[in-house]
Amino acid sequence: MPGLTIGDTVPNLHVQTTHGDFKLHDYFSGSWTILFSHPGDFTPVCTTELGKMAKYSEEFNKRGVKLLGLSCDDLNSHKEWIKDIEAYTPGAKVDYPIISDPTRDIIKQLNMVDPAEKDPKGSQLPSRALHIVGPENTIKLSFLYPATTGRNMDEVVRVLDSLQRASKHKVATPVDWKPGEPVVISPGVNNEEAKAMFPQGFQTVDLPSKKEYLRFTQVS
Ligand code: BEZ
Repeated sequence: MPGLTIGDTVPNLHVQTTHGDFKLHDYFSGSWTILFSHPGDFTPVCTTELGKMAKYSEEFNKRGVKLLGLSCDDLNSHKEWIKDIEAYTPGAKVDYPIISDPTRDIIKQLNMVDPAEKDPKGSQLPSRALHIVGPENTIKLSFLYPATTGRNMDEVVRVLDSLQRASKHKVATPVDWKPGEPVVISPGVNNEEAKAMFPQGFQTVDLPSKKEYLRFTQVS
């Protein structure tokens, strides 16, 4: 599907939410933000996802990350649904805004439409899209899941940790990386630069090609 992708600026749309109306860039205001959509209110998988997102609020706060949900239903429906979400996930407080998008204009502009899902009136529905927006209002990472597959919130936190490290240092995170494990030095950094950039040192893996491109170091 064409549309918003990594590196693009999120359009500064005016949105109606459970916390009032605002423009997206005003909400982001230089923070990292997770903008995530759901096929509909009062649906089973979505109810579990929004609760888990709320339950992880401390993890997101620690990383300076704001949350912003979206489901097309109206604001009264959202407010009623929040009671179910909080009841299902004990300890969860849905204190982040949820956008309402009755005209489906927002999900189209944010590349969040699921081509396979329609509501009973035949209107389009959002996929389980999740955009991680960086402090400059650009998309850093997107997930696009179908309605039938709930997202893994530990993975959301893990990729945030990867993105935030890569924004601070010229590094990338290898397969299955977790915080505390070594990262790899970006290919654009030569060994001389790496010595200056990483005074803690780095280890180069000896590979059959003898090309010294797999270099591990530690950053926090
Ligand atoms: C759900 O949230 O459970 C759901 C929503 C739409 C289609 C299938 C599942």
